[in-house]
Amino acid sequence: CGIVGYTGFSQAKNVLIDGLKRLEYRGYDSAGIALERQSASATELDVHRRVGKVAGLESELEHVDTASTCGIGHTRWATHGRPSVANAHPHTSCDGRIAVVHNGIIENFAELREELERRGHRFTSDTDTEVFAHLIEEAYEGRPADPATGEPAQPGSHDLMAAVREATTHVVGAYGLAALCADEPGVIAVARKDSPIIIGRGEDGSYVASDVIAVIDATRDVVVLEDGQFARLTPEGITYTDAEGTAIEPAITHIDWDIDMAEKGGYPDFMLKEIHEQPRVVRDTLVGRMVGGELDIDELGLTYEELNLIDRVYVIACGTSYHAGLIAKNLIEMWARIPCEVEAASEFRYRNPIITPSTLVVAVSQSGETADTLAAIRDARIKGAKVFGITNVVGSPVARESDGVIYTKANKEIAVASTKSFIGQVVSLTLLSLLLAQVKGKLTTGQVRMLFRELGDTAEQIQWIFDTQAEAVHEAALACKDAHSALFVGRGMGAAIAHEGALKLKEISYLHAEAYAAGEMKHGPIALIDPGFPVIAVTTKSPTYDKTVSNLKECEARGAKIIVVATEGDEDIKQIADHVIYIPPVRDAFCPITATVPLQLLAREVAIMRDCDVDQPRNLAKSVTVE
Ligand code: G6P
Repeated sequence: CGIVGYTGFSQAKNVLIDGLKRLEYRGYDSAGIALERQSASATELDVHRRVGKVAGLESELEHVDTASTCGIGHTRWATHGRPSVANAHPHTSCDGRIAVVHNGIIENFAELREELERRGHRFTSDTDTEVFAHLIEEAYEGRPADPATGEPAQPGSHDLMAAVREATTHVVGAYGLAALCADEPGVIAVARKDSPIIIGRGEDGSYVASDVIAVIDATRDVVVLEDGQFARLTPEGITYTDAEGTAIEPAITHIDWDIDMAEKGGYPDFMLKEIHEQPRVVRDTLVGRMVGGELDIDELGLTYEELNLIDRVYVIACGTSYHAGLIAKNLIEMWARIPCEVEAASEFRYRNPIITPSTLVVAVSQSGETADTLAAIRDARIKGAKVFGITNVVGSPVARESDGVIYTKANKEIAVASTKSFIGQVVSLTLLSLLLAQVKGKLTTGQVRMLFRELGDTAEQIQWIFDTQAEAVHEAALACKDAHSALFVGRGMGAAIAHEGALKLKEISYLHAEAYAAGEMKHGPIALIDPGFPVIAVTTKSPTYDKTVSNLKECEARGAKIIVVATEGDEDIKQIADHVIYIPPVRDAFCPITATVPLQLLAREVAIMRDCDVDQPRNLAKSVTVE
């Protein structure tokens, strides 16, 4: 979900809509804003909410003439309650004089709601967020006596910031919250726990958002609010307090990336733009990593002595980042000879994994804020593991809560389906694997240097795919577009790539796709094959090439349509493949960096042929801050 708020000297409506559009990739089930309206005698709050994308809300608001200079907005990814107008944010108190937008999850919302209903509050939605509006209302206006518990009535503070602080003391869970109160015109009160909040001060007012992208036009110097910190925004300035209400001075973070990075730059969609940025991502992620012939990861946070003690690695991640982990497992075990497991973060923490002080947990997260991954990091640290983060967002919770970090240098990724971040993650994990191998004495400095050079070559190899394979990708997409299902197969690295290929296809084209280790096909999935069924295989030159080809022959014999990603120069493969997309010859260890690219392009083409929104696929959100 995305939060934006503005109080200042310009028209708030436009600021909020622009901000919401930028945040839309974080969720687009519904959108809404609350604006202050000055009537003759008092200030009121007007709330506008719509199911669907921000564009719908924008057209509804075209006819709303408002001079309001203060408001809050939200774009939602549904958690509690289906996408509907009633469940869209902002949510208001009973008297409509308090409005809130909220990211995160209130774990004790059912009991809070029951208590509040007992005290006479009426709820109009199924969301957990609405509880916040009523709690703030009670803290502001005063609380009636509770006959069930015998608690006496309590006076209100009539101070929005104090009321928000008080409300948070009742809430268990995660929140990034912005609140308005009609009785305090021009004030926005903000709270944060485990859900990102950015505050910025521009020339024409004060801004709050859940992501820097919504405030970057106004300022590049922002405050990344910490857990337990609060902010009070007015047109003239911002004050910060801790949980006790004591004034604090938070650190300012300077944002050095450009807003151009968040625009399509001539491409028809963000996904294609981001796919084409991948050669740059490879180069940027490697810049400064080889100093004087030595691998240099300065943000390591762990000494070589500590690294040398590591005897077990877990890679934990979700979604696409999990697939980067599958690749890391192969590399870490192959080069560093350390046992490595890869696990979905949402499973890891509930499984009681074996963790000792010599365990390294590598947490991979593009956004650095995925709730499942963060929860797993915290658990792992409590159990004594060293935690290393691989993330794309400087200062994100994953970066802050890890002992060391590698930044993937992908820059802002907007398309919900991850592409360039994945490549950045794989390159970073490759560096980490090389480092572990070197520290463990399994690779010499000379070998590491040579591998590093080859790793850098993948940037040009990706460019070669763009320059020469567009037509082949298009033909393969035509062969898939009307299928009801597709299978992705490969062995070793190829299997890991197949998983990412299948995820890309299903998430953006809604075509069911599954990935299987090619050798496993004959043990079950081959039953699915009927004439014309697409089997998409990673059959690059590797030690298992012949075996994979045999598996494809079994599929071909049953009428499958065979599409392969193969190594340039492999003409034999054409004997069984209906469509071939080539990548340049590359060492198997680095194959994921190039061989994934045709599968990203394929998924995108199929999605476009099926009339899908490639940047904002249904039901998904870019970062999921609930477990
Ligand atoms: C969401 C996104 C996926 C992403 C996953 C993990 O589900 O839709 O594209 O791979 O989160 O995100 P992270 O930011 O932790 O890499």
